[in-house]
Order: sequence, then structure tokens, then C-alpha cells
Amino acid sequence: MASVGQMVGQPPAATHAEIEHRVDVLLRQMTLEEKVGQLMQYTSATPQTLEQVRQGKVGSLFNVTGAENTNAAQRIAIERTRLKIPLLFGYDVIHGYRTIFPVPIATASSFDSSLIEQIERVAAREATAAGVKWTFAPMVDITRDPRWGRMVEGAGEDPYLGSVVAAARVRGFQAGAVADSQSLIACAKHFAAYGAVEGGRDYNTAEVPERLLREVYLPPFRAAVGAGVATMMTGLQDVNGIPSTANSQLLSILRQEWGFPGLVVSDYDAVQQLIAHGIAANDQQAALKALTAGVDMDMADGTYLSLLSLSPGQLPIRVLDEAVRRVLRLKFEAGLFEHPYTDAGKENSSELTNENVKLARRAAQESMILLKNQNNLLPLDKSVKTVAVLGPLADDKADQLGSWAAQGRAEDAITPLQGIKLKLPQAQVLYAKGVDIPSFEKQPPSQIAGAPAPVTATGVGQASAAGGPADISEALQMARKADVTIIFLGELAEMTGEASSRASLSFPGRQEELLQQVVATGKPVVLVIESGRPLDIRWANDHVAAIIQAWYPGVQAGNAITDVIFGDTSPSARLPMSWPRSVGQIPIYYNHDSTGRPISPDRWHTGYIDESSSPLFPFGYGLTYTTFRYSGLRVLTPSVAPTAELRVQAEIENVGQRSGTEVVQLYIHDRVAPTSRPVRELKGFERVTFKAGEKKTVVFTVNANALGSYDAHMRWVIPPGTYDVWIAPNSAEGIAGTFEVLSSASGPVHDNDAGLRPHP
Ligand code: NOJ
Repeated sequence: MASVGQMVGQPPAATHAEIEHRVDVLLRQMTLEEKVGQLMQYTSATPQTLEQVRQGKVGSLFNVTGAENTNAAQRIAIERTRLKIPLLFGYDVIHGYRTIFPVPIATASSFDSSLIEQIERVAAREATAAGVKWTFAPMVDITRDPRWGRMVEGAGEDPYLGSVVAAARVRGFQAGAVADSQSLIACAKHFAAYGAVEGGRDYNTAEVPERLLREVYLPPFRAAVGAGVATMMTGLQDVNGIPSTANSQLLSILRQEWGFPGLVVSDYDAVQQLIAHGIAANDQQAALKALTAGVDMDMADGTYLSLLSLSPGQLPIRVLDEAVRRVLRLKFEAGLFEHPYTDAGKENSSELTNENVKLARRAAQESMILLKNQNNLLPLDKSVKTVAVLGPLADDKADQLGSWAAQGRAEDAITPLQGIKLKLPQAQVLYAKGVDIPSFEKQPPSQIAGAPAPVTATGVGQASAAGGPADISEALQMARKADVTIIFLGELAEMTGEASSRASLSFPGRQEELLQQVVATGKPVVLVIESGRPLDIRWANDHVAAIIQAWYPGVQAGNAITDVIFGDTSPSARLPMSWPRSVGQIPIYYNHDSTGRPISPDRWHTGYIDESSSPLFPFGYGLTYTTFRYSGLRVLTPSVAPTAELRVQAEIENVGQRSGTEVVQLYIHDRVAPTSRPVRELKGFERVTFKAGEKKTVVFTVNANALGSYDAHMRWVIPPGTYDVWIAPNSAEGIAGTFEVLSSASGPVHDNDAGLRPHP
């Protein structure tokens, strides 16, 4: 067992058996109040919560950060409570702690699991130096609905990409052992199907048939478990009629099927909300339902305290003890009993170091997607004389950081305008905002029920007057004077994330009008979009020569954007979701099932009569500054036994003049299966860098088990027969071949681990 004097950073040498023994010993000493106390998590260190800590009635605090603050609260737990059980400090470290990285949907766009792992490692180092030991991340919710504000926190629409990203984030946060003083305990959330909320309305109802649940929404959670995630969070949504925080059917998949041994925490207030959902009449019922469904810790609402008022016959003491065990076990595993305090001396020197900032710049470079580049307008020449930098996001520091910027500070951010000035010291850089982005004001229910809501210039929703007047004419003068205009439009960071669902995908306010008038000057225009979701850019796509989707790039936004625009780095990111043309196409996703009347211009086929059936840009799409040619697809294993591997390769050649990184993607389609299969499914990808003119053979190896699917009885099968395979630059193109899966000699395979293997 680890000694008290053990060096910070050294994992305690406690074995699993030793930890179990210590948990047992402690549990036997605990009163019922102390047990329930360990299941309570409160936000902020108010005098009231600290008094509860003193009484031994708190297991975890969150939103308490900084070594001084966490140490002060910890001292109460260690020095003034009977059993000296340390507190566990949680915090939402979503895309960095102080060094703010691009938002999660952006780093998912990099298709670079090693980069993602490095980012989370840095976030973990900074957060743990500030006394935080538990992050409520990664959010691994798949979504097919960009109206949902929280798509910014996830990895998009694809279960394979989502799984790779989930596992990488967990590895990055936890670094193998939560005992390490620089490891942050990860929490995959929100179990499960939160991204399927109807209409994209946050906190809503999700109706998800089991096959969809298992094939699309659960795989990233399973991948997180595979990567050793120590905790999970339920959500605020109802899934098939039962709120996820009391959904024992869902939680039994986690516990029984997958054998997840870790701790499950509710989402904020979610236990209490079981009453509003209408499945519990009072606190006691709500607490009982959540606890018996498998929720160990109650976040924020204090509802589990009502367990204390149950009669001995009503309280399932074994379930309660099991929940307490999970909390204690985690605290032992994390080494908190040996090292409850944080060394305050290291806090400041760990934050925003040169190395961390350098990684933030690289992450932002790798996260921006080049959507359009007509006549190779980009990269721009650095010898340009006069540049107009326009738009409400061009010099806005806070919004570069994105939706959940933890301890990030606006002053740490480099804006695009600053970045351009730094990059072009000789040039004349003209700047005008042009228009403001007005914030949305949520409409009162009376208005929703009564007269139709006013429609703003570009969409539904009331724009507040706080946006201020627009001055488009000043911006136009600058565009006219300049050789090229770079315009930064999008959404305020607050328009994305939790409780920020939108009914429209338009540019808020008068931004599109500004863009139209700037384009009308006839000067070349580069549009950079900063947003947390794909916006409706049909007009821009028809009229603007170059478009970059930059998401929210983080502290190094301005430097990274200019690195891409002026060609110091070549764009390499890809869309982690299909980009709809209009909001009416939602949900639109590449891996839809085959239909009897597949997409076709013929009227009597699936689709719309007034809109295309294809997205504006497909999943996996993104341009580079060079051109790649795909040829020579060879299936190295034309017949694959269900226990073997598929191997397939292609020649990829950089036929352009510049070096570049291509995200080479592998898709399959099972032609005949017990259930309709997606027209394509991603099963692998590789980021490969090529010099100009270079040609490489890219080989993919996929375990045959990952080719399977669920049958109508939810059995995992690997259907024999012919499969299509593509090696492709995105989900709509590529070179194709076929292979056969042989019948299994040993009957049906019952393994639902498909597609969940971490990317090599
Ligand atoms: C509610 C959010 O849904 C969840 O993702 C977050 O971790 C908690 N609040 C804590 O801030």
C-alpha cells in the first residue's frame, strides 16, 4: 500500500485486492448519513456546502477550482470529519482548462486521435495542478441534428469516428492510471442517446429503437469503456419514455452487458427532475428510482438526502452500499487518501506554457476545414499589399474560445485580426466590423402560443437591440480599397452548447447582408466561419470563392487561421457530419439505411421535390491545397472468414504542386443482411502526409467482427455474402471493390464489440 509520504506523481502501489479491503473496512465504519453523504455532489464551496462537508455529508464538489480553494475545502474533509474521507473535485474541462483548445467538434474534425490524446493530456495537467481531479468529459453523444446546440461538444454523426475520438480523449485525460497526480478522471456522457433529442431541442425526449441505439448511439460509450473510462454521466433526456437517469434498461447495458465497474453520476439536477418528468411523485421516489437504476452519485440537487427518510424496509441497503463502494473505490484508485492536497506552487507554472500554446496552435490548424477554394484563391500570397479584415468575429477575443472555455480568459486569445497583422507586418491591414451579432432572446411562452414570432432579417428568433447598429458602409469602403477581403462571420459562442438549440441555421443578424454587399464589390473574398454547427451557407457557397469552417479555434485562433490562409500549413480537417443545405433536410446523415427507392432524380424515389437529397458537403469532406488521385484498389483478402480480417489497399498519389495531408477513409456496405444496412459505413481512416508528387500505398486492416450488424432480435451477426468496399476521400466519392464474407463454421457470432476497437 502507498505510504503517506509517497511522492506526488507516483501512483500508489495499492493492488485491487488491497483497495477492496480498504473499501470494506471503511464501509463497515460508516453510518447511514455518512454513506449517503458520499453519494452527494454539490456545486460551489458556499458556507452551507462547506458546513455539510464538515458533517461528513459530501462526497464531491464541483466548480471549485484553484489549488488554494480545493485545498481549503479538502482540509475540512480530512481534518474535521470523523472518517477523513477526501473530497473528489470535479469540473467541466471540455476543451482545455486554461489553455483553450478548439471546441470538441473541431478537434474531431482533425481525424487525428494522437492529437486529441495530446490535447486532453495537457488539459489534464493544467486542471490537476489546479486541484481538479475529475472532468465531466468527454461528451460522446452522436448527433444527426445540428439544431441541437450541444453538437459542438461532440464528435459528429458517425459511430466509428465517435468511438475513436471517445477512446482518444479518455486515454488523454486518464493517461493509463487515475492514480497519477497528473491524470484527470474522465466521465463519458450523457448515457445515452442525448444527441437524439427530438427536433434538436435540448433536454427533450429521445425515441430510439434498440437497433439504432446499439449501432449508432452506444458505440462511443462502449469505446470509452474499452479505453478504461472511470465514470459515466446520465443525461437530462428521456429515452423511450424513461428519463436516462432512471433508465434501468439502458444502465443494465452498461453494467451487466459491458461489465462497467465504474461510478455513474447523474447530470445536474437530473434526479430531482424525475418528478417533473412525471415518473416520481416526490424526492424519495425520485432518489429510489435513480439509485436502483444504477446512478451512484447525485449531482447538485440534494435529492439523495431523502434516502435517509426511508424506512429500513424501503431502503435497498445493498444497492446503496454498492454505490458507496464505487465512490470510495474511485477515491482509493485515484490516490486521494494518500494525496488529498494539490501542490499550490505548481499551479501557475503549469498553465498556458509555451508548449501548451504551441499545441493549441497546431490543434487549431488541424481542425479547420477548407470547404471551397475556387481557382485556388487560397493560400493567399504574403506579399499582398492591402487586406480588408471584416466581420463581427474578426477581432472578438472571447468568442474565439468557444462554448465551454473553463478557466480560459479572453485576453489569452489571439484574434484573426491580430494574427493577420502579425503574419503580414508589411501590409496595410484595414479592419471594420461591419455588423454586430445580436444575441437571441428566448421567446416567452405566451408569444409562442399566440401570434407568430417576429422573423428577423435572416431567421426566426428575436434579435436583441444589444447588437448595436451595423455600419456596413465602412466595411464596404475597406473592401473596395483592399486587394482581398477576409471576412469572419458566424455565431457567438453562447449560441452553441447547452441550452442553445436553434430552429434556424442562418447567420444571426445582418451578417449575410454584409457578405452579399462585400461580394458585390467584385474583390476576391475569403469567408471564415466561426460557429458550433454547420450554418446555412447556400448563398455563400454560390458566390464566395473560398470558405473555411474554423469552428471556435481556441486561444491560438488568429495565428492558426492565418497559418492556413497564407499557406504556412495546409488544411487537412474533414467534416465529422454531413453539412445540410437547409434546415428542412435535418436529419441528414451519410450512413442512412438502404431504401427500396434509393435517392434519384426520379420523382417516385426517396427525397424532396423542392430540395436536393444530398447534403451541401458530405461527411468526411474537406479540401487541401493539393490534389490526390486514388487508384489501384486491391482487396487483399477477397474471402474473409468471420474470425479473420479484411485487408484492402489503394494507391494514393499527390498529383499537385504542394505537400498535403489526406484523410484516407475506408467504407463498407453489406449487400444482403437480416436488416437493411447503411448505404455506407466508415470502418477506418488514416491521416497520411504526402510531398508534392509522392505516391503511397495505404493499407487498411479491419477485424471481420467489425463488419457485422444486429439482426431483428438484437443478435450480433456477421452476415455472409458480398460486401462493397471503398477507399475514399469522403463518404460520397472513392474507388470501389467487393469482398465476400464466408459463412461461419461455428454458427452465429454473438459479440457486439463491432466497430468499437480503438483506431490503431
Ligand atoms: C449539465 C450538463 O448537461 C453536463 O454536461 C455538465 O457536465 C453538468 N451540467 C455540470 O456542469
